[in-house]
Amino acid sequence: MSQAVCKLPQKSQKQSHRKFTEKTLIVASHNQGKIREINELLKPFGILAKSASELQLDEPEETGDSFVENAELKALAAAKASGLPALADDSGYSIKILNGDPGIYSARWAGDHKDFALAMQMVECKLQDKDAQEDEERAASFICALTLAWPDGHVETFEGRVDGVSIWPPKGDNGFGYDPIFKANGHDRTFAEMNCSEKQKISHRANAFKQLVDACFKAI
Ligand code: IMP
Repeated sequence: MSQAVCKLPQKSQKQSHRKFTEKTLIVASHNQGKIREINELLKPFGILAKSASELQLDEPEETGDSFVENAELKALAAAKASGLPALADDSGYSIKILNGDPGIYSARWAGDHKDFALAMQMVECKLQDKDAQEDEERAASFICALTLAWPDGHVETFEGRVDGVSIWPPKGDNGFGYDPIFKANGHDRTFAEMNCSEKQKISHRANAFKQLVDACFKAI
């Protein structure tokens, strides 16, 4: 005798995300390199993007212990101050053998004068102190937490990363920050030797942005 099988309706595994339906967005950053890349990513969506530096919004102190915490506090501060949804990125360069440093302190390693030649030199000195010569010992990643926050306090956060190797000497003049010393796995040029659209195909920021678009920009 065949047994009746009771099939219960499957509960949807899909997480529900708040959709972005507004026309204007604040890019909660004062870093011109990041603003340029985020604006480029937003272009196809016809969103009017204004940066926090354009609106002279204060930069909150990055007191979080992780990329996610910092991205959320920056996005929330800009959303609450402007009354508009705000997109913030907290990102950094992370070296495995240095226990993830400079990590969330990537901007701070460049000091008040934002001297990234110095910051890259510090990374290299620390790698040399560890006698890191082989690619595996010089494994590096860029990590990006991207948060879209609304003035009512709702946040949507996504993390992206790209893995590769920290090289020396620095190469290339494009991009910003640590781009001249980072070669993504499978690529023979640094991020600073790529043009913006080449970098955007593989970057940590583009990766987080794709997740955000899939979750919050696309129709349900
Ligand atoms: P914060 O997110 O404002 O704390 O700063 C992140 C820092 O990480 C930047 O100032 C850069 O030094 C570094 N960084 C983040 N993303 C990139 C990138 O795409 N290329 C090069 N450096 C980056």
